[in-house]
This record gives sequence, C-alpha cells and structure tokens, in this order.
Amino acid sequence: MKRTLGTCYYPEHWPRDVWPEDARRMVDVGLTWVRIGEFAWSKIEPDPGKFAWDWLDDAITVLGDAGLKIVLGTPTATPPRWMLAVHPDMLAVDADGRSRKFGSRRHYCFSHVGYRGECARIVEALAKRYGANPHVAAWQTDNEYGCHETAISYSAAATVAFRSWLRARYSGVGNDGDIAALNAAWGNVFWSMDYGDFEEIELPNLTVTEPNPSHQLAFRRFCSDQVVAFNRVQVDIIRTHSNAPITHNYMGKVTNFDHFDVGADLDFASWDSYPLGFLEDRAGADQDLRERYIRQGHPDFQAFHHDLYRAVGRGRWWVMEQQPGPVNWAPYNPAPLPGMIRLWTWEAFAHGAEAVCYFRWRQVPFAQEQMHAGMLRPDSSEAAAMAEARAVARELRAAPDVSNVQAPVAIIYDYDASYSWDIQPQGRDLSYFSLVFDAYKAMRALGLSIDILPATARDFAGYGVVLVPGMSHVPDDLKSALIASDAKVLMGPRAASRSREMQIPVPLPPDIPGLDVTVLGVESLRPGQAVKLASGGKIHKYIEDLETGGDILELTTDGAAVLVDGAGVSYIGGWPDQRAYQRIIETMCDATGVRTRRLPEGVRVRETGAETFWFNYNANAIEINGLELDPVSVRRVIGRS
Ligand code: GAL
Repeated sequence: MKRTLGTCYYPEHWPRDVWPEDARRMVDVGLTWVRIGEFAWSKIEPDPGKFAWDWLDDAITVLGDAGLKIVLGTPTATPPRWMLAVHPDMLAVDADGRSRKFGSRRHYCFSHVGYRGECARIVEALAKRYGANPHVAAWQTDNEYGCHETAISYSAAATVAFRSWLRARYSGVGNDGDIAALNAAWGNVFWSMDYGDFEEIELPNLTVTEPNPSHQLAFRRFCSDQVVAFNRVQVDIIRTHSNAPITHNYMGKVTNFDHFDVGADLDFASWDSYPLGFLEDRAGADQDLRERYIRQGHPDFQAFHHDLYRAVGRGRWWVMEQQPGPVNWAPYNPAPLPGMIRLWTWEAFAHGAEAVCYFRWRQVPFAQEQMHAGMLRPDSSEAAAMAEARAVARELRAAPDVSNVQAPVAIIYDYDASYSWDIQPQGRDLSYFSLVFDAYKAMRALGLSIDILPATARDFAGYGVVLVPGMSHVPDDLKSALIASDAKVLMGPRAASRSREMQIPVPLPPDIPGLDVTVLGVESLRPGQAVKLASGGKIHKYIEDLETGGDILELTTDGAAVLVDGAGVSYIGGWPDQRAYQRIIETMCDATGVRTRRLPEGVRVRETGAETFWFNYNANAIEINGLELDPVSVRRVIGRS
C-alpha cells in the first residue's frame, strides 16, 4: 500500500469561492486525503429536523472533483445549541456534580439515551446521503472520545445506565441482578456498605471519603463500555449505507476508555499527534528533557502511540491530525525546528501509518483555535509546514513502500490495569501509563522495534521478549499462554496483584506456576527515596517485598531480591530506573538472540520489513554505525544497519 498524506479542512469556515483554490492547492502539495465535517452539525441541521445539505454536497463535489479523497466525520462531538432545549439533561456531569455547559465542544454524556438517539438520526441522514458517494472514501466517528475529560460522567442518565449494567454483570437466576453477588464481589461488608437492591447504588462520587475501589473499577469499566456502545451505534448505521472503512481519531495518553474495545468495531485506528503540546502537557518529561526537546517533542512519545494504535487498528492505522506548527493548548506553545514535521511524518510511516493528515489546512482567525498554526496562514500564504509536507510527498513518490513486520519484542498494554492504578495509585506520582512508558523507553534506547499487544493477546509466537508491567489483573489463561510461549517474559511490578474485582488474591501474588516468588508486601517511595541495585541503577517509586526460593537475578545493595527467574517467566518486584531497566531488558534479549544496540541520546531506530529508519531528534549531527545523521533528520537505509 502506498503511504499518503492529507489535511483537515473546514469548508464551513471559509467563503464558498475559496474552496476550489484550496482543493487545487491541496492536490498540488501532493495531498490525497481531506477530512471534513466532524464539527459541522449546526450547519447541516440548523434547526431540528431541517437539513441544509447544499453546502456539504457542494464541498464534497469541489474537493472530490479536484482529485481528493474525503474522510467524512460524523458531527456528534458538537451538538448544536437547540439540542439542549430538546434534551436539557444531556450534558456530562463532573465528579463534583457540576453539569458541563454549552459553549465549546463534547458537551454530552455518553449514557444519555435521548442524545444517543439524536446521534443515530444525524448519522443515518449523513450515511444515507453520502454512503454511496464515490468521493467519500472513509468515515470518522465523532472526534476524540474522552477529550476534555468527557468519558466519565456522573449524570442522572449514567446512574440509571450503571444500575442496569451492574444487574447484567452480577446476575443470578434468570439473569436477574443478584445483589448478594455484588456485595461479595466488592467486599461491601467493609464499613457496612452492603446494598439491599441495585436501585440503591449510586455513582462513586461525592462520598465522604474514598469510595470502594471495586465500586470505582466497575464504574470505570461501565464508562468504557458506554463509549463502545455509543460508537457502535454510529458504526452499525454507517455500514448499512457505505462500504468505506470507518475509523475514530484517538488521542495521546488517554486511558479513560478501552481503545481496543472501540477499535474492535472499526476498520482502522487513527490518532492525533501533537508532539510539542504533548512534551509540555503529558509526556512526563523532566526539566532537562523539556529543554532539550522543546522544539522536537519527546523522542519516544509519538512512537509509543504509533505502536499502540497499530495494535488498536489490528495493523491498520493513520495519524489523522499531525501538528503543523505551534498549537494553542499547551502551557507553552513553541514552534517546531525546521525539519521536524518531515521527521514526525516519516516516523509515523516507519511505524506503519497508512496516511498522515496535517491539522489543519488554514489557521482560522476566529474562535478558540485562532492561535493554532495551520499549513496556511489566515491570509492563505504558506506557513512553515507546507514546504515540509511537499518534500515528504515528493519523497513518498520516489521511495519504495514501507512494509511492516512483527517486532522481536512486545509489551502488553491493558486499559483495565490503568483504571485500577488510577483508583489505588498508592503513591502520588505513580501511574500505569508512566510505568509502561518507562519500559517502552528502555527498549527504544536499546534500538529495539516494539509491538504493543492488547491484554487479550494469547499468541506470542515470534517474540523473543514480552514485558507485562503493572498489569493488575492477569487472567489465568494469559498466565498459561505466557508460560507456554517461547518468549522470555518479564512480569511486574504489581502484575497479577489484584483479582478481577480488585481484591488482593490468595494465594498471594503473582501466583505464577513455575515461578517461586511471592509478594509479601509493597511500599511506595517518595521522590529521591530510591533503593540502589547491586548491579547498578535503582528501584524508585515502588518496591515490593519478595519472598523467593528461585534464581535471584537482581538484588538491592542490602541483599533483597528484586528480580527472580522462573521457567520462562521472570518477576520484577519494583519500578526500575532507566539504567536498571535497560540492563535487565538487554540481558533478556541477549538470552533469546534479540539484537540490541545502545543508541546515542536522541537517536531512535525502527526496522520495517525491508529497511532501517534512523531518526535524529537532536539539534546537532550524530555519527553512528558509519552513518552521518543530520540534525533533526530521518535516514532510510535499505536492509539492516
Ligand atoms: C485535537 C482536536 C482538533 C483540534 C486540535 C488542536 O485534539 O481533535 O479538533 O482541536 O486538537 O490541536
């Protein structure tokens, strides 16, 4: 498949007479795709039931006739103001019980049945009208589920839906809710929290002190299922009218719903990549790293999500929105160094992206995003991104296609585990995402290409090493599959530490057949309170007290076991710093014949079927393996280098 480029366009923001020129320029730059429509509900249906299709018919014709393929977004992230008059209780409610307001976007609760019906109605109308349109070559449902903290809502609609979700989950005879089963599963005898009926159960907010973690976990799973159900309504409707593939644009570091579950209903995954915004806002970078990469972004954060969404899309994925210049929403909003847009784009292709679309075509001079760069300035003159997009388009035409290949190592990523870490972090700066990301960074620093796998993976054939960091609940059949695989598996810390209902299991964790290790207790560590390892590096943030008669591979300087080997599965009882993580992973790779190489700071590598891609995130040139890497550059080498 030939890799392609695209952009995000809002015809409704611009006079009709600039559309043809915009379309011509998009084609001229070498773009294939244009995504439209995802916020245009008030223009499509200005009054309830009164549709205004002319402008959209026209826009699709103008763009399509110019030679562009259209990704048509469903506009359900931005219900018009009149919708609130029809459904005054459709707004999401925050944990403090405050209703969110109209005046921006994503002002809805996933559980509101009436709003879901309205979404079905508008999607039906759109899909019917454009499902067979030859220019509409893909669909996007809604926009960025979970953005602006909207996946979790404490509304009245959510309360009703949660109770029926619980009834179905804790069901007794005749599939009727069994309240005794729920009380036992949650341990409600503690603090006299027993319920007599499902109707008594509230959402877990506004309690005097923390609510029962099992109650919270059930609620988080419910919220995720609501996103899945909401999305499925749209997908089912689109499929009845269109054969074009359907996607959703996910985000960076959003863990408030299970993306794999949503992805199961879609044809491909996509995500919105804003490397400089992420560095400031969510990549967990320290001051040093921020300063070094202020105009480049974190060298691993995009790659992590590329690998994650390749898994969510079952091999098929795009970057639906690519940062083209300064954004408007991070604490500080620098401009990328010249060359970074090309680097980010090629990095996505090297990780298997089918398409990369720049957000947005033209900077908009009004409303919330007027400070957000586009490929064009508000006066239609070219902004910095344009020349780089043009260069990539030229390179794509000349280059052989990128073929993806299974990586030699894998990490299991489990949204459910992330919920349980959120609920009981046991230390202020502990999160599941940052543990997994630390493991990922250590692998990347060793020059490894990495696959991310869902918690439902059971086939590990072809992997030399599989990491299972922090996966709170590990089902027995996953344990068995990992033990039976030929891979060397590293579980922990905190892996298999909870039952499915979030209780400490007995026998004590991790309870892995063939691995003689028991976690007797755990403690979180303050910043600066690290424990040194005898072989160098440290355990920080979180350490476990391990009892073992097995082979100890890593010890603290005080002689306590930290890493224990078993038959195919090792267990690590702590959160290693980068030095220790890299050493441990390197040793496992050596044992299984997986090649590693320690890369210089800021250099990253990704191997595809036929090529090796080198990325230099540094603002200075680097020499490695006889290759001269220019500052801020990508280098394709045929074969392995
Ligand atoms: C994304 C969103 C876009 C736009 C962009 C700005 O999160 O999907 O609509 O707001 O951010 O960076």
